Amino acid sequence: MNAPDRFAPAAVDPGGAEPHVMPTYGRLPFALSHGSGCWVWDTTGKKYLDALAGIAVNTLGHAHPKLVPALQDQVAKLIHSSNYYLVSLQEQLAAKLCALSGLRNVFFCNSGLEANEAALKVARKFGHDRGIERPEIVVYEGAFHGRSLATLSATGNPKIQAGFGPLVEGFVRVPLNDVAAIERLGRSNPNIVAVFLEVIQGEGGIRPTTIEYLKQVRRVCDERGWLLMLDEVQCGMGRTGKWFAHQWAGIRPDVMPLAKGLGSGVPVGAIVAGPKAANIFQPGNHGTTFGGNPLAMRAGVETIRIMEEDGLLENAANIGAHLKGALASELGALPGVKEIRGQGLMIGVELDRPCNVLTTRACEAGLLISVTADSVIRLLPPLIMNRAEADEVVERLVPLVKKFLAE
Ligand SMILES: Cc1ncc(COP(=O)(O)O)c(C=O)c1O
Repeated sequence: MNAPDRFAPAAVDPGGAEPHVMPTYGRLPFALSHGSGCWVWDTTGKKYLDALAGIAVNTLGHAHPKLVPALQDQVAKLIHSSNYYLVSLQEQLAAKLCALSGLRNVFFCNSGLEANEAALKVARKFGHDRGIERPEIVVYEGAFHGRSLATLSATGNPKIQAGFGPLVEGFVRVPLNDVAAIERLGRSNPNIVAVFLEVIQGEGGIRPTTIEYLKQVRRVCDERGWLLMLDEVQCGMGRTGKWFAHQWAGIRPDVMPLAKGLGSGVPVGAIVAGPKAANIFQPGNHGTTFGGNPLAMRAGVETIRIMEEDGLLENAANIGAHLKGALASELGALPGVKEIRGQGLMIGVELDRPCNVLTTRACEAGLLISVTADSVIRLLPPLIMNRAEADEVVERLVPLVKKFLAE
């Protein structure tokens, strides 16, 4: 008889009293095993249409035939080197992000909150460099910027902050789309150094900043010498039909955090900086071990290349308009549906009541979606979704919503 293998992983007992993964998520009771395009399969073989893309991450869907060989090639060459050395793929991806955004340089990290932390540090140092000892940053009601101490302090959701005080200081909060509020702050608070906002609030319920508001905030920042920092972690990288959501307003930010869709599933984050913010970090001011590693950089370079080759911005705009239109005609007039909004493949259907249960029911119907801000059904499909798949999303989702509202 063979001796028992001491190094074999312990058998997982999902119903056991002591799970080994911290319960930070209320997880649905299935595990995905593989995918192809906009479709994924769980470990029992059940098939789902993915209208969530890992929360706006899987830009190219699953197992994309152009991405997979490129990543395999990179893994076989070099996964990680170190920021002690030049990383030529960093130069390549940074040059591309600057060309697409019209901005000047890039710092690479590994996630959305890390990108936002870097942006907040840039803003504070920008203030200190100007002799402001206690710099303050304008943030928004309903915002979500991440789960680190600084980013949860910037987040406008008391549920996310509860239990983690004392919060990081130096934030002033205003309502979204209220120009007068920000002008008042400009007149009354000499410590403000930056305005920090999502162009479309994602976790907050697919709530867009208006084009007019973005233009006005740009004006106020210019008049006051503040940095405009636009968190495009969820709404950026082509999701709205332009490379970056702020481009619909014809403005440029001074700092733009990115993550999620940038690597099509390989973790990568970045801040892209314009001239006002490009030289604030100097050697020793910021850093990360993993940030900018060759594998993540290759994922970013290839994601953008494939998006360009396959016309995925146009696809996001067209399929998004089709999907939103179809949802509006099927659900728009129903009592209980408050609003259907969003841009490109970032769509929210707001109901007049909490509807978290729809996430589970959609899974049962073979559809991956999420519900955010308790009452907003959120769709963030891969940017490769085609018209037939968009119709299938509608076909699977609409009966669930109708039944739910009739209960
Ligand atoms: C707008 C925005 N910023 C930041 C984050 C945090 O990103 P991460 O989860 O990669 O830290 C998210 C995540 O949902 C987000 O939507």
